[in-house]
Amino acid sequence: MYVCVCHAVKEAEIKAAVESGCGDLSALGKSLGVGTRCGLCRCEAQSIIDHMNRHGFENMSVLEYGAKEVSAPMPA
Ligand code: FES
Repeated sequence: MYVCVCHAVKEAEIKAAVESGCGDLSALGKSLGVGTRCGLCRCEAQSIIDHMNRHGFENMSVLEYGAKEVSAPMPA
């Protein structure tokens, strides 16, 4: 499932980046571009970071923390 449509970044990529040390939105933005264009994904990306920090890095689905579909135009 895409979290950041603007940069075509999926949940799994965000989780891997957080596991690799990207501990906040700023780091995710620098690493993957998440949240650096329209910004609609920032809340969802922060939810993933928060969830992983609270519950560890066990396998989780985006549905576990109440994700909403990102509705942003696809990048050209
Ligand atoms: S959806 Fe992530 S910056 Fe637009």
